[in-house]
Amino acid sequence: MKIDCNRFSFGVLTMSDKGSRGEREDTSGPYLVSKLKEEGYREVAYVIIPDTAEIITETLIAWVDEEKIDLIVTTGGTGVAPTDVTPEAMEDVLEKEIPGMAEAMRAESLKKTPNAVLSRGKAGIRGRSLIINLPGSEKAARENIAVLLPALAHAMDKIQGGTSDCGVG
Ligand code: MTE
Repeated sequence: MKIDCNRFSFGVLTMSDKGSRGEREDTSGPYLVSKLKEEGYREVAYVIIPDTAEIITETLIAWVDEEKIDLIVTTGGTGVAPTDVTPEAMEDVLEKEIPGMAEAMRAESLKKTPNAVLSRGKAGIRGRSLIINLPGSEKAARENIAVLLPALAHAMDKIQGGTSDCGVG
């Protein structure tokens, strides 16, 4: 049976010091919003915040524990620059990691750029929510989310206790 993605709310969180100050236009966040809407997910939040670990952690925890957002996709701050702290912020948020999601994104991305090895993004679960880190550029966000989209509805269903058949679809 096909899973109705409209059941699942989503939020997109862009990590960017310059973007949060209005000094750089964020194109990755809006791309992800439109892509997930096209897939049938229900948009409830899109915010740009600075690359500050405490702010990232607080925002993610509030989105899960208070707003009950089902799917959270972040973009930016996964790399190796001194300001990149998204994966560290995730450590205080996630209850279960899903290493296969991050591994698959890096493996597919490596076919497109050797710099794929520089993304340290994680994916995992807090409560009944799935949180996925993507790299920051629009190109990287587009290429990485494309890897996960085919498994996303089934992942959401399972995370929320669904009993859909894993062998179908
Ligand atoms: N993955 C894909 N598919 N395409 C890309 O262009 N860029 C890489 C990498 N992953 C890239 C990619 C680069 S250049 C960096 S520095 C890292 O993601 C981390 O990006 P971030 O610091 O913006 O999160």
